[in-house]
Amino acid sequence: MTSPVVASADVLILGSGAAGLSAGLRLAQAGIKVCVVSKGTLAGGSTLWAQGGISAVLDEDDSVEAHVRDTLVAGAGLCDEAAVRFTVERGPACIEWLVEQGVVFTQAEGEQRGQRLHLTREGGHSHRRIVHAADATGRAVETTLAGLAAAHPNIHAREQCVALDLIIDKPNKRVLGAYLLDRRSGRVETFRAKAVILATGGANQVYLYSTNQFGASGDGIAMAWRAGCRVANMEFMQFHPTTLYHRDSRSFLISEALRGEGALLKLPDGERFMPRFDERAELAPRDIVARAIDHEMKRLGIKHVLLDISHKPADFIRAHFPSIYQHCLSLGLDITQEPIPVVPSAHFTCGGVVTDLNARTDVAGLYAAGEVACTGLHGANRLASNSLLECLVFADAAANDLIRELPQMAEPPALRPWDESRVSNSDEDVVVSHNWLELRTFMWDYVGIVRTTKRLLRAQHRVDLLRREIVEFYRHYRVTHHLIELRNLVTVAELIVRSALERRESRGLHFTSDFPQTDDVAAPTVLVP
Ligand code: FAD
Ligand code: SIN
Repeated sequence: MTSPVVASADVLILGSGAAGLSAGLRLAQAGIKVCVVSKGTLAGGSTLWAQGGISAVLDEDDSVEAHVRDTLVAGAGLCDEAAVRFTVERGPACIEWLVEQGVVFTQAEGEQRGQRLHLTREGGHSHRRIVHAADATGRAVETTLAGLAAAHPNIHAREQCVALDLIIDKPNKRVLGAYLLDRRSGRVETFRAKAVILATGGANQVYLYSTNQFGASGDGIAMAWRAGCRVANMEFMQFHPTTLYHRDSRSFLISEALRGEGALLKLPDGERFMPRFDERAELAPRDIVARAIDHEMKRLGIKHVLLDISHKPADFIRAHFPSIYQHCLSLGLDITQEPIPVVPSAHFTCGGVVTDLNARTDVAGLYAAGEVACTGLHGANRLASNSLLECLVFADAAANDLIRELPQMAEPPALRPWDESRVSNSDEDVVVSHNWLELRTFMWDYVGIVRTTKRLLRAQHRVDLLRREIVEFYRHYRVTHHLIELRNLVTVAELIVRSALERRESRGLHFTSDFPQTDDVAAPTVLVP
């Protein structure tokens, strides 16, 4: 049996986070018809949960040079300086665009609405340059953009729809569309498009403990890899130092902005430990802080460390961090009075699909923007709040390129529908749930904050076994949302382990006890399919 549903649009956008929605709105506002697909609701993805803010040079004492320098330092020699400069220079205009769309950011005290934004500070930044909406910046951005997208006549929004693969004209290395699983009907649709933008976010659910929601399964990276795109720097998975450690709340982030506003990291006996690891102490870049916490937890055999902001006035804490304050209070923890138990967990995928400054990938008509992409901005470690900035800048770049190029792009030909004639419904979904947990557990244990070659090889062996089992499963059974995600997670795990094994040094987020030195010359890890 085949699934004959066929649909089309000029541009198909896979993902509705900051990258997908801002690309969609910019194209729609230029009169181009787009379809924006989300595997959950339109307002979702990591963007909805982003807390700290968006970095941009807006203070008169700050400068593009300083932001570029901070990004290069955090990136540990591996950033592409042209990409960094390109991004940083476009930051202020992107913030202005968001304000024009109706996003309400926190104002500087005493300012009239719309006059001057309050800028907070985060690790690795030499200046206050983080624009934010209290401690729920992502929610302000995402709900505003999703509301606009849902109402725009040029945007067809498709919720609960999972892209399972890109459709490629292999001889010409050109994208023709994608296969989409409608989660409500269970049918696979063949979607034709002149161009496709991958905006599917990161792959951080490849680890057992993550600040990300379940959908962060690296679908775009895996699809692009299968389509023939290069993927780079996958060993650089960022662990956020401070996720709430609580039995009833496993992935709640405690924003770096707390440290920016003076919160201190402590051991259970009250000793501050960060000054022993770095002169910037709590405001050192994330890789350093996460590794220091991991070191102290292992040294003392403790399950978490403490983040203490209770020395600040209670009114200040409640005003600046209302969501974190409320969430902790709902768990019986008053952060104005007591320290917060925190642990590091997987947070951000620095690597991804290789793009140029127009967000173009190696396949004609296929673009990538946001966390799915490797633009060269982050290098070996992302500077806090540079991610939302990257989403906005590269979504804009993709939209501008498409506005120029679409008139010359050919209509895609008629496409072969998805063929389900040789598959049946699975009667053992337990394989999917078991493999999902196994994969995430050994990635956490063997490919985490501190690595060794022996553990990486162990992980590689496990990934290999799982991949074979899942390919077999995929061949015989009708696709489901979870099977699609598991297949992609295994691909991503393979890319991470391979990249980590190729890097015979420690740099930024990749630290291996077998090669603790940092080489003089920095080179990206580029995998070619
Ligand atoms: P996302 O926002 O993750 O959106 C991905 C979209 O793709 C979703 O709509 C999803 O449904 C869709 N999708 C995925 N796969 C498929 C598929 N196969 N088919 C169809 N649709 C699919 N960064 C900052 O700069 N500042 C911050 O303060 C900050 N705070 C953060 C706090 C938390 C808790 C987390 C988790 C991250 C934070 N980050 C922050 C990182 C930042 O939020 C993300 O990197 C960024 O939001 C990614 O945006 P995106 O548009 O690329 O993807
Ligand atoms: C945070 O608020 O700590 C997250 C910021 C980021 O990931 O950039």
